[in-house]
Amino acid sequence: MRRLVAPTDFDRVYDIYMHESVVPFLGFDPMTREAFGKVFDPLFESGCFYVYEVDGEVMGFYKAQRHVGRAAHVAYLGTLAVAPEAQGRGIAMGMMQDALARLQRAGITRVELTVEADNPRAITFYERLGFVHEGTQRAAYKRASDTGYVDELMYGLLHDG
Ligand SMILES: CC(C)(COP(=O)(O)OP(=O)(O)OC[C@H]1O[C@@H](n2cnc3c(N)ncnc32)[C@H](O)[C@@H]1OP(=O)(O)O)[C@@H](O)C(=O)NCCC(=O)NCCS
Repeated sequence: MRRLVAPTDFDRVYDIYMHESVVPFLGFDPMTREAFGKVFDPLFESGCFYVYEVDGEVMGFYKAQRHVGRAAHVAYLGTLAVAPEAQGRGIAMGMMQDALARLQRAGITRVELTVEADNPRAITFYERLGFVHEGTQRAAYKRASDTGYVDELMYGLLHDG
């Protein structure tokens, strides 16, 4: 079941986001719990960051932001992860199928996202959902722990509209 994130989710979101197997693929470098407000607060305030519960426990999250104006039929997916201890059980697949169905019902006909070129697991996952590689943003991503830059792959999914 998905619901909008609440302030009480701060610790659980931090623990998933900053896990060593998750943080390399999200938007911010590792940081302390005290500093995490600068990540969590904008997600909360966006009004489009959701947590996904399984048996009453938060097991994943994602952000689905609708564009405005002439791109109002488009949503951008980001900040997506599943709790490390629960990966490989189909939770992300269930979470995304639910999210995509909701977006389609809301009139979204295009969903877009970016994924790092060195994240084969997520790339396989998105392609299985039907996302298509549309282009590459070269050297668009830099982890503090890396010496080099990483390409961002742009993926899109079209629904009949
Ligand atoms: C990518 C991620 C969300 C997948 O979550 P998950 O719950 O493990 O995924 P699922 O169990 O639903 O698997 C969905 C598909 O992902 C792929 N996948 C899952 N585990 C995989 C693995 N170990 N190796 C390769 N592909 C894998 C498969 O296509 C799988 O389909 P299948 O179950 O039919 O084989 C999760 O690994 C994660 O949180 N990673 C760290 C954060 C991240 O990379 N986020 C994406 C940012 S763009």
